[in-house]
Amino acid sequence: MASTISFSPGNVLVRPKVAHRTTSFPPSTNLRSFVAVRASSEQDGSIKTSRTLEECEAAAVAGNIPAPPPLVKPAGPKGTPKIKPLDLARRPRRNRRSPALRSAFQETTLSPANFVLPLFIHEGELDTPIGAMPGCFRLGWQHGLIAEVSKARDVGVNSFVLFPKIPDALKTPTGDEAYNDNGLVPRSIRLLKDKFPDIIIYTDVALDPYSSDGHDGIVREDGVIMNDETVYQLCKQAVSQARAGADVVSPSDMMDGRVGAIREALDAEGFHDVSIMSYTAKYASAFYGPFREALDSNPRFGDKKTYQMNPANYREALIETEADESEGADILLVKPALPYSDVIRLLRDNSSLPIAAYQVSGEYSMIKAAGVLKMIDEERVMMESLMCIRRAGADIILSYFARQAAGVLCGTKSN
Ligand code: PBG
Repeated sequence: MASTISFSPGNVLVRPKVAHRTTSFPPSTNLRSFVAVRASSEQDGSIKTSRTLEECEAAAVAGNIPAPPPLVKPAGPKGTPKIKPLDLARRPRRNRRSPALRSAFQETTLSPANFVLPLFIHEGELDTPIGAMPGCFRLGWQHGLIAEVSKARDVGVNSFVLFPKIPDALKTPTGDEAYNDNGLVPRSIRLLKDKFPDIIIYTDVALDPYSSDGHDGIVREDGVIMNDETVYQLCKQAVSQARAGADVVSPSDMMDGRVGAIREALDAEGFHDVSIMSYTAKYASAFYGPFREALDSNPRFGDKKTYQMNPANYREALIETEADESEGADILLVKPALPYSDVIRLLRDNSSLPIAAYQVSGEYSMIKAAGVLKMIDEERVMMESLMCIRRAGADIILSYFARQAAGVLCGTKSN
């Protein structure tokens, strides 16, 4: 007897277009469940039949069955050579021949949960555009910042990293503003945590936004960046950020021994639950150019090559990995991301810790610029670059595209 069967092949599972909301959003968003509907209305519960199964079987045995749709063999264009098919044991294209097969065998996935959105903040009340990073702004910490975080959360991005633009008058050679408990970063963290208690706040630990020399550490009169004295300052900075409510402190300075020292300083103040994401393999890269414009943090002299890694080096990343692991890092980061995919893979294969990758300002701006010039399809290149960083082995990606890409994943474009 024909009747309505809820899970026949004619039925498909449909869920709302904003797919991620059902799986990875905070509980505050409304949860919609799966709904079973029929793909076609033809068989709607009412196939009128008077024949029994036995009668149908007897008809089939007698060859008395309706003709199935005709077999069609699609032809090649006129002039296609007639050849004997290649005798191939393997034809990898078989697993790629339809969207359903392709998505069934997709090895890597992207989700808004993988993204960390870097945000530039300043003391101003208005947001000011960053020339070298179209679509990015220095956000007013009281208004623009809150609005941006709120929009990012709407598309499932719940992790943020803050970068402050510090007034020149507060910059000193020893970067002491970095550990002012009422400074721009601690103030912004407290405000964010008050408005959005469940977000994850990452902070940058380094002196460059606070240093009158624009370096990540204290500069000796002969130009040498002083390691241990800088680490002392970084510990105070990390503790101050933790006190304000930071969830993950992220030393990006590349001083030796800073992860262990920061761990000890955090623990001594009772911040056992504050994580450390170490910039393990941070290269002395020209891809940081737009960021330095954003923060006006260009080194006043020289470069960062005595502390950041040589882009030519690969094995050396393992030395940094071993140090950071043994000093107690919780997450290891590679920076930049796409041009250093081999290093991401190296860390992935040599550590059990989560791996982060930073798609830096230059990587972002190149895609934006080429998109504006219509040389590439910005959205597709954005999604592909993020997917490739995941495929290389990154668990999380710090990216200025985080909100835009999450919007694409959720099926909602955001502005
Ligand atoms: C500095 C810092 C830099 C970035 C993040 N933290 C710049 C630098 O090392 O000079 C770069 C990020 C980007 O380019 O997007 N501590």
